[in-house]
Amino acid sequence: MQLERNKPLNAYNTFGFNTKAEMFVEAQSIAQAQEAIEYSKKNALSLTILGDGSNVVLTDDIPGLTLKMATSAFFIDHHQPGAAAIDDNKASDNNTCSVIAEAGVNWHQFVLATIEQQAFGLENLSLIPGTVGAAPIQNIGAYGVEISSSLSFVECIDCESNQLQVFDRDNCEFAYRDSIFKRSPPLQLGNAGFTPQFKQPRFLITRVGFTLQKQFEPQLSYAALANEIALRNLDKPDAQTVSNIVCDIRRSKLPDPAKLGNAGSFFKNPIISLTIQQDIQKHWPDAPCYPQADGTIKIAAAWLLETAGWKGKKVAGGTLGVHDKQALVLVNHGGGNGQALIELATEIKNSVKDMFGIELEQEPRTLPEISHPV
Ligand code: FAD
Ligand code: EPU
Repeated sequence: MQLERNKPLNAYNTFGFNTKAEMFVEAQSIAQAQEAIEYSKKNALSLTILGDGSNVVLTDDIPGLTLKMATSAFFIDHHQPGAAAIDDNKASDNNTCSVIAEAGVNWHQFVLATIEQQAFGLENLSLIPGTVGAAPIQNIGAYGVEISSSLSFVECIDCESNQLQVFDRDNCEFAYRDSIFKRSPPLQLGNAGFTPQFKQPRFLITRVGFTLQKQFEPQLSYAALANEIALRNLDKPDAQTVSNIVCDIRRSKLPDPAKLGNAGSFFKNPIISLTIQQDIQKHWPDAPCYPQADGTIKIAAAWLLETAGWKGKKVAGGTLGVHDKQALVLVNHGGGNGQALIELATEIKNSVKDMFGIELEQEPRTLPEISHPV
């Protein structure tokens, strides 16, 4: 285990904020991750897990030990049906295959490899930044597909026992931008009597299993994707074409973090009642609203921000702002910091609450995460 001290994190978060990790370790194996967890317990250090830092806001230096998974293998087994197929008593089902990827694998490279190796189902999730290990945390989703639809299991280290534990898909409690891993209660690490000031993660995801399809079926429920495919007169697009089109749409509105610091959507799309929707559409008939299966309505947070006048705005001396092509994306124009970004997010939340009566929920995690006093 190679420990680094006072590690600069500007290259380890896609906002590019300049903070440091008191101690930092990259685990090349599950055994090394367990060693790091043991070390943090023995030394009563708070533990923070970091993937590629594309869904975090670093507001300060991170105390204790920051652990990044650097495992990089994945396996696509065309002879083994996916686990969900076995659960459904379809062990002889020849239509699916089992795919397993380690936590440190880059998500987009993994998606491209599945397409190349004729294992289908992840195309619409192309170009989402980050690692495989972080993907189940908020049940990543885009263009009408969520990872939960093809995920079969999540393997983790339970930081309490430091033992491996496997969650079948049904036990992951997946929902829109949510899972058991995002909600898991903070853990009291450290020596007896030690009360950590910072929240501890309960589960470190080590590997993710998928059930992918051998035959490609395009999933075109998302209007922007279906429209683009119609516009290009593509009757039966193949998987690589769908992936390319998803990448094109994404590049046309989402900033590339290598050029403009951001963490994707900063707020979740709020779920509202039919009554609130009707009230809003009395004033704004074009408000983009999407009915959900349970009778609630999802409203586009980007539209709320744009209508409240935030699109393209700059604050904090021009260092931070709201993207001019997609109002849901907050950006670091250069020289901004995490605390000022949270101030901007708070201003935005207040203005949306005042104008529409809707409470926005932040999507990226703020780190370090302070515990409530015990
Ligand atoms: P990090 O940001 O490093 O971590 C995120 C959270 O997961 C943290 O709380 C961290 O502690 C925890 N974590 C990370 N790895 C592990 C692990 N192995 N075990 C346990 N906990 C862990 N998201 C979408 O859903 N859909 C999109 O379309 C989308 N588009 C984006 C576009 C851009 C330009 C950007 C910058 C982000 C976008 N995101 C999107 C958000 C982001 O890409 C995803 O949330 C991604 O899964 C984060 O991966 P990461 O490795 O960077 O995680
Ligand atoms: N819109 C505006 N103003 C804008 C941008 C969009 O009014 O500046 C309206 C448009 O009417 C548009 C609607 O909002 O039709 C939805 O916009 P978009 O298709 O860009 O999607 P989104 O709801 O803003 C969500 C996800 C993205 C995901 C895309 C595609 C959330 C919080 N965000 O964005 O995920 O890539 O759909 O599926 O659910 C992320 O989570 O980080 C992320 C980027």
